[in-house]
Amino acid sequence: MATILLLYSSVYGQSRRICERIAARLGERGERATVAALTDPALDPSAFDAIVVGASIKHGKHHPTVLEYLRRHRAVLQSRPGALFSVNLVARKPAKNTPQTNPYLKALLAQSPWQPQLTGVFAGELDYARYGAVDKQLMRFVMWVNRGPIDPRTRVSFTNWDEVDRFAGQVAELVRGAPSVAAAGPAAAAAPAAVAADPRAPAPELAPAR
Ligand SMILES: Cc1cc2nc3c(=O)[nH]c(=O)nc-3n(C[C@H](O)[C@H](O)[C@H](O)COP(=O)(O)O)c2cc1C
Repeated sequence: MATILLLYSSVYGQSRRICERIAARLGERGERATVAALTDPALDPSAFDAIVVGASIKHGKHHPTVLEYLRRHRAVLQSRPGALFSVNLVARKPAKNTPQTNPYLKALLAQSPWQPQLTGVFAGELDYARYGAVDKQLMRFVMWVNRGPIDPRTRVSFTNWDEVDRFAGQVAELVRGAPSVAAAGPAAAAAPAAVAADPRAPAPELAPAR
């Protein structure tokens, strides 16, 4: 049984829910998954066999703590299997919902010292009732420009949970092929990343693409 740490950077809970779903699927496969906030100081990533980081987009950016974490824990992250995914509304567009086409994930990977073996992109949730007045108006405007829902009562999840489940399966495959680094120490570390960042990645879009 592998120990897998799923860290989320989440403002409104969708990235956390996605981590919890992945953890549930991993649990069904007999792995031991722990879900925690990326900012939780109590968790030592080196105590886990694999690490998954999921982060949402707000105003065109992942929270700065995400890149800080990837930089601070670079050595640990690079020494074992890992995955990184982004949650945003641009990803509800079929043309922007893969690691190769989503501008936010591409931008994060372009800046990250860690290039995980597995990357993912999931469409997030829109829930106007939970936003402050300014954010609500801004998001309604962005949705209006992009022909999305603008009714202030809208609460809609664009997350494709089948895709999340598939991603969980890929995490399980990744972990299965690797030695238990948490138990065996750094010498047993998995091979470094196979996915390279695209250095030509554009800056993040401030509004969902058409
Ligand atoms: C104030 C605000 C700004 C947002 N900005 C963007 C954005 O620039 N691009 C985007 O694709 N999604 C944007 N989103 C959508 C979020 O990424 C989406 O709601 C996601 O589900 C949030 O995940 P979380 O609940 O884990 O924070 C924004 C959402 C809010 C509330």
